[in-house]
Amino acid sequence: MAHTMTKREGEAAPPSRGAIVALDFGKAWDYAAAPESPDHVSIDPKYGLFIGGRWVTPRSGRFFPTINPSTEEVLAEVADANAQDVDDAVRAAREAYDKYWSRMRGADRAKYIFRIARAIQEKARELAIVESMDGGKPIKESRDIDLPLAAAHFFYHAGWADKLDYAFHGRRIRSLGVAGQIIPWNFPLLMAAWKIAPALACGNTVVLKPAETTPLTALLLAKIIEEAELPPGVVNIVTGGGETGAALAIHPDVNKVAFTGSTSVGKRIQRAIAGTHKRLSLELGGKAANIVFADAPIDQAVDGIVNGIYFNQGHVCCAGSRLLVEESVHDVIVKKLRDRMATLRMGSPLDKNTDVGAINSKAQLARIRELVAAGEEEGCERYSAPCPVPEKGYWFPPTFFTGASMSSRIAREEIFGPVLTILTFRTPDEAVEKANNTSYGLSAGVWTDKGAKIFYMATKLKAGVIWGNTFNKFDPTSPFGGYKESGFGREGGRQGLAAYLGVE
Ligand code: NAI
Ligand code: MG
Repeated sequence: MAHTMTKREGEAAPPSRGAIVALDFGKAWDYAAAPESPDHVSIDPKYGLFIGGRWVTPRSGRFFPTINPSTEEVLAEVADANAQDVDDAVRAAREAYDKYWSRMRGADRAKYIFRIARAIQEKARELAIVESMDGGKPIKESRDIDLPLAAAHFFYHAGWADKLDYAFHGRRIRSLGVAGQIIPWNFPLLMAAWKIAPALACGNTVVLKPAETTPLTALLLAKIIEEAELPPGVVNIVTGGGETGAALAIHPDVNKVAFTGSTSVGKRIQRAIAGTHKRLSLELGGKAANIVFADAPIDQAVDGIVNGIYFNQGHVCCAGSRLLVEESVHDVIVKKLRDRMATLRMGSPLDKNTDVGAINSKAQLARIRELVAAGEEEGCERYSAPCPVPEKGYWFPPTFFTGASMSSRIAREEIFGPVLTILTFRTPDEAVEKANNTSYGLSAGVWTDKGAKIFYMATKLKAGVIWGNTFNKFDPTSPFGGYKESGFGREGGRQGLAAYLGVE
C-alpha cells in the first residue's frame, strides 16, 4: 500500500499554529505516515449480482475489474449486468413489492430500515476503508463524513416510514412501485443511502446500479441487507456501466427513475423515458459560486473555500468551484489561500493525515487535465499546490486560476476536480448576477459578518442549497437538489419523500 513520495522541494513553510510555533522543526514538520490497515477488510475476488435476495452469476457471463485509483491495483472483479440481468432484477423487485413491501405496515418497514442503519454503524470502519480503496477519497472523509451520513440517512428515513400520513397531512399518499436508481462514483455508499432509504421508507422496492469505478460498498451494503433479512427482492443491486444503467432506466416495469450523475446522461435518460408513466428525479452537475464579501471572517472563509473545492478532490456536484471575492480582498484571499494550500497533504487515501486523495479514474483525470489546459490557453494564471505526486495512481494537485473572465471555459464548465476559478465583484448585485450566470444551480455559499446580507443573497441566488459562512454541510433533514440544468426533485427532508410517493 505504501506510496513512494518524491521530495518536497521548495515547499512553503507551514503557517504558525499554537504551541507548534515554538518547535520550528522545518522539514521535520512532516507527520509520519499513519495508514489505516486494510487487513481486516474482506473484499471477495469476484462479485455476482444481488437479485431476489440471492447472489447470482450474471447471464451476460461478463465481469470487469474495479481498481484502487491510488495504486492502480485490481481490488475485485464485478459482474457486468446486461438487459436480461436487469430484467431479472426488476422482476424480483416487482414480486417483492406485490407480495411483501407494499402490504407491510410502515412500522414494520421501519424495523428493517433501522436494522440496516445499525449494521452500517457497526461496520463503519470496514466500509470507510473499502470506500477509500475503491474510490480514492481520504479515509478522514469516508470515516467522518460518508459513513456517519449514510447511517444517518437510514435512521432518518426509518423514522418517517410509519409517519408518512403526517408528512402530507390531509392528502392521500401511495407508494410508486419499483424504483430504478443509478448513482455516481463520488460518494458511492452515501448516494446509495440517499436513494435506497427514502424509497424503502415510502414503500417502494429498489433496483440500484452503482457506478462502475466504485461498486464495492454497494455490494457490501447488499450483504448488510441480506443479513438484515429484508424480504427477498426488496433491494436488488446490479453492477455494470452505462448500458446497464440505460437498460434499468428504460425498463417498462420501473415506475420511478432516480439518477445522480452528469448532466449529459441525465438529459439522455430524460429523453429516453419521455412520454412514459415513469416518475423521474435528476441530480446533475453544478458550478457553484462561493461568494466572499470583504466583511467576512477571512481566515474562516479561506478554510471554507478549501473545504468547498478541495474536499473529495473536487469530485462534488455542489463543489464551490467558482470563488467570487469582493475586489478589495482579492489579493489577501489569494495569498492566504496559497499559504493554506501549501499545507495540504496529497497521498495515500488510507493515511489518516491525507487531505487530498486520488482522482477517481484515469478518464476523470484526463477530463480535469483537458479543462486545466484550456484555462492556461485562455491566458488565465494557474497556481498549483506544491504537493509531491505519488508515482502510481491518478493524482491532481489542488489548483486555482486567477485572471479568468466569466466566458472562460474554466468559469463555465464543471471540472469535477480540485480546480478553483477565482473571479471578483464590487457590489452584492454584481455578485448575484455573476453567480446566477450559469446553466447550473445546485448550491452557493455566502461569507459575510452581516446576517441580513446572507438573507438578501439567499433570496436572489438561484441555487437549491445556499450555505451561510460554511460550505459542503449535509444533513438528512435538509432537502438537497437543483435549479436549471442541475436537475429537479429533492433528496432528504420531508420534501425528499415526495420523490418516492404519489401525493393526491
Ligand atoms: P456519468 O453520468 O456517466 O455516470 C453516472 C452514473 O450513470 C454511473 O453509474 C454510470 O454507469 C451511469 N450511466 C452512464 N451512462 C448512462 C446511460 N446512458 N444511462 C443510464 N445510466 C448511465 O458520469 P461520468 O462519465 O462518470 O462523469 C462525467 C462527468 O459527469 C464528470 O466529469 C462530472 O462533471 C459529472 N458528474 C457529476 C456527478 C454528480 O454528482 N452530479 C457525479 C459524477 C459525474
Ligand atoms: Mg474502483
